[in-house]
Amino acid sequence: MNPCERWPRLWLGVFPTPLHRVRRLRDDASLLLKRDDLTGFGLAGNKARPLEFLMADAIAHGCDIVVTGGAPTSNFAGACAHASAVAGLDCEVLVADGPASTVPIRLARACGAAVRATGGDRALIEDAIAKRVIDLELEGRHPYPVPRGGATPVGALGFASAAFEVHAQLEDQGVDPTRATIVLPVGSGASLAGFIAGSAAMDLAWRVVGVSVSRPAPQMASHVLALAAACSALMGSRPATSGAFTIVDRTGDVLTEERADDMGAARFMRESEGILLDPHYGIPTFEVAWTMTATAEQPVVLWQTGGIPAAVESLDAGNEHERRVLTPSGSM
Ligand SMILES: Cc1ncc(COP(=O)(O)O)c(C=O)c1O
Repeated sequence: MNPCERWPRLWLGVFPTPLHRVRRLRDDASLLLKRDDLTGFGLAGNKARPLEFLMADAIAHGCDIVVTGGAPTSNFAGACAHASAVAGLDCEVLVADGPASTVPIRLARACGAAVRATGGDRALIEDAIAKRVIDLELEGRHPYPVPRGGATPVGALGFASAAFEVHAQLEDQGVDPTRATIVLPVGSGASLAGFIAGSAAMDLAWRVVGVSVSRPAPQMASHVLALAAACSALMGSRPATSGAFTIVDRTGDVLTEERADDMGAARFMRESEGILLDPHYGIPTFEVAWTMTATAEQPVVLWQTGGIPAAVESLDAGNEHERRVLTPSGSM
């Protein structure tokens, strides 16, 4: 039984999201797409999963206002404001580099959230959230702090549950889950942490690969492991070990020749599979997953997490680059 089902949950998305083979990319491709771009909750993509648990937890604790933050481009920040509105809670979004009129910030404002520019370093957002929570308590409010990306043990339950979901889908499709390689993008680490916690709860040793786009692999690995352990403690299940996942480091490759090549991959996915890849998470994760189809145990499951605002923003840049041909050897 999925232990996450014992936890309060405010349904926001439509689950399970589809799991299907790529259709036109390559005839023999053993690449499966897990379509969290289709969670059905606004522009939230994969972020609908942690938010279902976080919103229910806020309500269960009698909170009346959610305080979160992030970069102006943070999908999570916009989705958190959206979810708060649906949950009947006020919301404040603290933005490091504000003021900005990105899609996530516009969504947050449209959902009635107060958007505050904190100035300074993005890494200090957690401190700014903690300070704002104290101020709100002094005002007699009951704030619910949500760190960037929803990376709390409760938030991680979203992807712990997703591990159960995709396991059942693979079995339904006649695929042996123990032979699968799951490839996920990693920003805050909430998704990967939850996923390995859920995998450990099932006692399932499939191969899990995180593609880290913001923090170096060793730092991210210890963060993910600690968060996963806290999530396992909530579920009352055994914790994941460091051998349960690997992290591929894709940090710091912005505006390089390689990135220009990535845009070709984005165009290819758009025009063959009909999928919009965002440059921060979707493109590097696709590239890693695609390369793995040549070497890994089959199938490779690419977690397509959404990122539609950034995908749309990058459309013009993508047009400048040639379409690249994906060869049967798996290289691009
Ligand atoms: C589109 C998209 N994919 C993946 C991620 C990474 O998820 P996580 O923060 O849980 O590591 C994010 C995080 O913001 C995201 O917006």
